[in-house]
Amino acid sequence: MAEKVRIFDTTLRDGEQSPGATLMHRQKMLIAKQLAKLNVDVIEAGFPIASEDDFLAVKEIAETVKGPTICALSRAIPKDIDRAWEAIQNAKNPRIHTFMSSSDVHLKYQFKISRKEALQMSIEAVKRSCSYCKDVEFSPMDATRTDPKFLFQMVEAAIDAGATTINIPDTVGYAQPIEFGALIKAVIEHVPGIKNAVVSVHCHNDLGLAVANSLEAVRNGARQVECTVNGLGERAGNASLEEIVMNLHIRKSIFNCSTGINLRQLYPSSQMVTNLTGISVQRNKAIVGENAFAHEAGIHQHGLIADSQTYEIMNPEMIGKTTKLVLGKHSGRHATKKVLAEMGFNLTEQQLKQVSQKIKQLADKQKTVLEEDIIAIASDVTRQLVQEKRRIELDEVRVNTGNKVKPTATVTLMIDGKKKTAQGKGVGPVDAVASAIQSMLPERISLKEYHLKAITGGTDALADVVIKVQNGKGNVYNAESINEDIIMASANALVKGINKALASKKSKSRA
Ligand code: KIV
Ligand code: ZN
Repeated sequence: MAEKVRIFDTTLRDGEQSPGATLMHRQKMLIAKQLAKLNVDVIEAGFPIASEDDFLAVKEIAETVKGPTICALSRAIPKDIDRAWEAIQNAKNPRIHTFMSSSDVHLKYQFKISRKEALQMSIEAVKRSCSYCKDVEFSPMDATRTDPKFLFQMVEAAIDAGATTINIPDTVGYAQPIEFGALIKAVIEHVPGIKNAVVSVHCHNDLGLAVANSLEAVRNGARQVECTVNGLGERAGNASLEEIVMNLHIRKSIFNCSTGINLRQLYPSSQMVTNLTGISVQRNKAIVGENAFAHEAGIHQHGLIADSQTYEIMNPEMIGKTTKLVLGKHSGRHATKKVLAEMGFNLTEQQLKQVSQKIKQLADKQKTVLEEDIIAIASDVTRQLVQEKRRIELDEVRVNTGNKVKPTATVTLMIDGKKKTAQGKGVGPVDAVASAIQSMLPERISLKEYHLKAITGGTDALADVVIKVQNGKGNVYNAESINEDIIMASANALVKGINKALASKKSKSRA
């Protein structure tokens, strides 16, 4: 009988710590609801002490998202734990996750405390958490660079204090699979109380081994894996949820473990996270990358036509990826709604109306409207509506460009309700538009990155522009926009990014 491995999703906490992935409250709600559909066991909804925004988002998720356990992160500090509990107390199944560093390098240089003090703080944090909630997780941070004897001592003390899950993090992504598997085995063998707790792992991907390390941990007795959709997370990210789940599923005979994940929601979840964070996955990413099921070589195509098993160990339908022409000029609202729901978009009537209109407009211009176009349109509409505060609206853009003139742009913006016009020059028309927009802003916001891709082939393709802007405090914000016109996609993306930067009050402390 296969044993269950719990999937603990930390997209909204560690994933949101990805540089540039800051999510707004309503975007977090959309992702949390999608995670419930995916049927993850635990949603780590945020770090409530970090900011008022985080607190409110965790609270709303705890109060409205049904199914998974809702977890909040806290340092081993009383005010963090109290705030975490305040945020999740109304969840049906709440969990407090508290952590304290265990490695000498962290204790000496970051915390400037002794092992004894760290141990005492951990015990007190777990006890305080248990006074609120029966489900308490404890993490000895930087476990893989900790003296194993001290690690066992800290884990035993946390279990004695009441922790029900012990999470072993590879915080800096340093471990190799063979070592990490051995560490999990050693924790199970050397900590007598471990039978009273679930062993969890949380691996970072600095050396590209987060998934391999997590799987090796499962082979050695871990029964919870912490991971994120698309592998988002601090620095090089966390273990990717879709890769963990599909490895456990496709190679069941190796692991003899199963998850409760609804596989068909893997691709829609990945698409939603890509679209709402503005962080795309690489084309050749396992499971959810654009090329993951694309076969180019003639010999492979020939084999596939004969029998898909020749070159496919799983098929796209399994993860909810359908590759067909879905909607067009004559598609009704119901069909649009159904197709979008299958793709992971549960739209309001207002959003649906906007998406249907845009699909029809595009179908008038292009012969075919492909799935990629529809996802892009729906994401764009969702993003527009989740953008909570827009201080700046784009009113008009005019450009003058060619091979014998210096590109110039005249842009009119509505800034806090007042119309303003400015001209800009640049090396190209997009640059000219950007300089005109930037010259009118109430504070300095610079364009850090600009990426352009055509969603489908042809000169009439939708242009997808992804940008990063940075405010004076050094915070970076992503934005994306699609349009048939490259200049308009660029201008809209820039205005979206600027609105995000202007709306954000925070410079938050991170775990
Ligand atoms: O990477 C890490 O150690 C963490 C802890 C808070 C679990 O994210
Ligand atoms: Zn982490």
